[in-house]
Amino acid sequence: MECVREYQLRNVSSHCSISEMDDYDLSKLLDKPDKPRLNIERQRSFDERSLSELSIGLSRALDAYETAYSPGRSALDTPVSSARNSFEPHPMVADAWEALRRSLVFFRDQPVGTIAAYDHASEEVLNYDQVFVRDFVPSALAFLMNGEPEIVKNFLLKTLQLQGWEKRIDRFKLGEGAMPASFKVLHDPDRKTDTIVADFGESAIGRVAPVDSGFWWIILLRAYTKSTGDLSLAETPECQKGMRLILSLCLSEGFDTFPTLLCADGCSMIDRRMGIYGYPIEIQALFFMALRCALVMLRHDTEGKEFIERIVKRLHALSFHMRSYFWLDFQQLNDIYRYKTEEYSHTAVNKFNVIPDSILDWVFDFMPTRGGYFIGNVSPARMDMRWFALGNCVAILSCLATAEQAAAIMDLIEARWDELVGEMPMKICYPAIESHEWRIVTGCDPKNTRWSYHNGGSWPVLLWLLTAACIKTGRIQIARRAIDLAESLLLKDSWPEYYDGKLGRYIGKQARKFQTWSIAGYLVAKMMLEDPSHLGMISLEEDKQMKPLIKRSSSWTC
Ligand code: GLC
Repeated sequence: MECVREYQLRNVSSHCSISEMDDYDLSKLLDKPDKPRLNIERQRSFDERSLSELSIGLSRALDAYETAYSPGRSALDTPVSSARNSFEPHPMVADAWEALRRSLVFFRDQPVGTIAAYDHASEEVLNYDQVFVRDFVPSALAFLMNGEPEIVKNFLLKTLQLQGWEKRIDRFKLGEGAMPASFKVLHDPDRKTDTIVADFGESAIGRVAPVDSGFWWIILLRAYTKSTGDLSLAETPECQKGMRLILSLCLSEGFDTFPTLLCADGCSMIDRRMGIYGYPIEIQALFFMALRCALVMLRHDTEGKEFIERIVKRLHALSFHMRSYFWLDFQQLNDIYRYKTEEYSHTAVNKFNVIPDSILDWVFDFMPTRGGYFIGNVSPARMDMRWFALGNCVAILSCLATAEQAAAIMDLIEARWDELVGEMPMKICYPAIESHEWRIVTGCDPKNTRWSYHNGGSWPVLLWLLTAACIKTGRIQIARRAIDLAESLLLKDSWPEYYDGKLGRYIGKQARKFQTWSIAGYLVAKMMLEDPSHLGMISLEEDKQMKPLIKRSSSWTC
């Protein structure tokens, strides 16, 4: 029951007036003045190495532009992205598009999202037949990159409506701004009506509200705006209010002594107990990115201005805190190893009183001489030094990481390829926790046993984030290598949700097949590599006002 969408020619001549979008124009580099303007996003952050690759990609896209944009094309045909190719697209691409379209969910004949997994073979549906906000992000990006923004707009508006619902868990009312983790459309064939049920955490395993949903919503609103050049959606009073409500939740004053956001375990992609309570990197990076996205979309009216001021102050403090205390490289690890404890007052070096004995052995072997990363969590007397892929990639895309830190993260991925990528890109976190620690930290969770699922499992969806980070840092070869690995397995294995094992060699114990974000993540990675100008949808330029810290270790200067 796919409804027919008229193919919408992208508004190629319109430009976002959002100020940070005014980077230098790559089309000039292409020296093709008579060609029509593609919706070219301009990235200052590409270094010289990647510029040549970039212009090849762009000129290919320009060459195929006229053929792809012929009138009367329907979005249900061959994807624009593969039609744009002057070389043969990988055979998997067509399959992936077909599978992605099969996962579309309609509300009153309008596509409003994609279900998490289309796996009829699985006995247990659980909530995989729902549209998850976080899962829809790669689907949305795929549709935007393919010139089909309508579904993204519908999704943004539908979830905005859901935000307006009164949300309760037992007798407790949730904050107004909370966005759902997921929603489901119920079709009544007799009455011919569609209704929606949404989950804000009140049905979720563990009853945790998804802190990431609101951030992804803001990030997606910017991606839509940037990709279409259509500012009118973000500027509606409804979207402005939606953003302010989300922001009110995370900018409110309380007892905090840090600018990071305090969270319960399981409040993001890792939605089960995994010892990420406190200040998890995934949420901090998404928080930072959402703040920066909101900053360019909020109107400068009375209400908007108040939030803008609060955002600017928070960004300033947050970037300082993250870059100083979450960053770990060889030098920093050595410093922590030699920390004195029980220091009091402003002169303390070991501000959180981390006891060096609490540093686990694996970190010392894992840390390369060159390279570094943002660790999982920092709070009083606790540094969770596990590596988390999503947070580190988002830190690169949002420029929470300085250029030096971003390069160091890529160096680490290269140096620790077997551990972090193995045979399937890429590990959600590293290393896995096991034995006694697993019992205490996960509460004996049988789904999160070592090297499985959230506990060191390999998630194909992360491929798009890795690819985006690679393009941004000019490390295209890393992305190619990762995509090659995915291409050798994903279709054959029917697009699993995750893989298990130290190297990610086994299809996950309870992994769904035809997991939508595995499919969409692959497509997004392919399209970005093919046409790196797409990166602008999901990447921000460095904010010159946020000065990087004084360099303090070798891997920052490489
Ligand atoms: C699992 C994942 C979560 C995802 C959901 C739907 O619960 O942990 O991140 O959103 O499945 O795919």
